[in-house]
Amino acid sequence: MDFTEYTIRLVDDVAAAHCLEAKSYPPSEAGSLASLAYRQRVAPDLFLGLYAPGFVLRGFVCATASAEDSLTAASMEHHDPAGRHVLIHSVVVDPQYRRRGLASALLRAFHRHVADLPGTPYLRLLLIAHVPLFELYQRAGYQLRGPSPVVHGPDAWFEFARDVTDDDLRLTLAPLRQ
Ligand SMILES: CC(C)(COP(=O)(O)OP(=O)(O)OC[C@H]1O[C@@H](n2cnc3c(N)ncnc32)[C@H](O)[C@@H]1OP(=O)(O)O)[C@@H](O)C(=O)NCCC(=O)NCCS
Repeated sequence: MDFTEYTIRLVDDVAAAHCLEAKSYPPSEAGSLASLAYRQRVAPDLFLGLYAPGFVLRGFVCATASAEDSLTAASMEHHDPAGRHVLIHSVVVDPQYRRRGLASALLRAFHRHVADLPGTPYLRLLLIAHVPLFELYQRAGYQLRGPSPVVHGPDAWFEFARDVTDDDLRLTLAPLRQ
């Protein structure tokens, strides 16, 4: 797919992000407008959007930082500015534009963005996912760590991790060599 029409930039319109979030998760899993606004306020550098022409938000990734090298209910509710682990809370693409590689492109952009932040403060990216999305994250270079202690909604969560220094180009090309 040709992604040249898209722009990646930090999200400041949290209401637009919340609109996508509410359309994308069951009510028990969707972040509230207040929680998205909190994340954007405390960790604006970790709230990245994918914009179609006219600055229409098509997808976003948002995260906060933690000293903990694991996602827990507590670490997900708090941003530690000195934390070296990036806890990804949400990866969302507008329902009408899914299965076109947008989330994969957004994750690649997020990985580069985090690695290029001044002082490169971060070591690792962490997220939790349900079984059907394992392939999305494994293809994006995340390693499955195992079941997560987080209980949130009806289905089990599994934790994934990816070192910030992992090379996206190598991961993208690897399947082509098989
Ligand atoms: C998950 C989500 C972000 C994926 O966005 P997307 O732009 O459709 O993802 P991509 O097109 O980059 O998918 C790349 C690959 O990931 C896998 N994948 C993506 N969505 C999948 C799904 N719903 N079920 C199974 N595999 C999926 C597939 O292998 C896909 O490749 P393919 O389309 O060639 O089969 C989107 O479906 C979404 O917003 N879902 C609701 C919110 C959510 O659950 N977020 C994840 C929280 S952990």
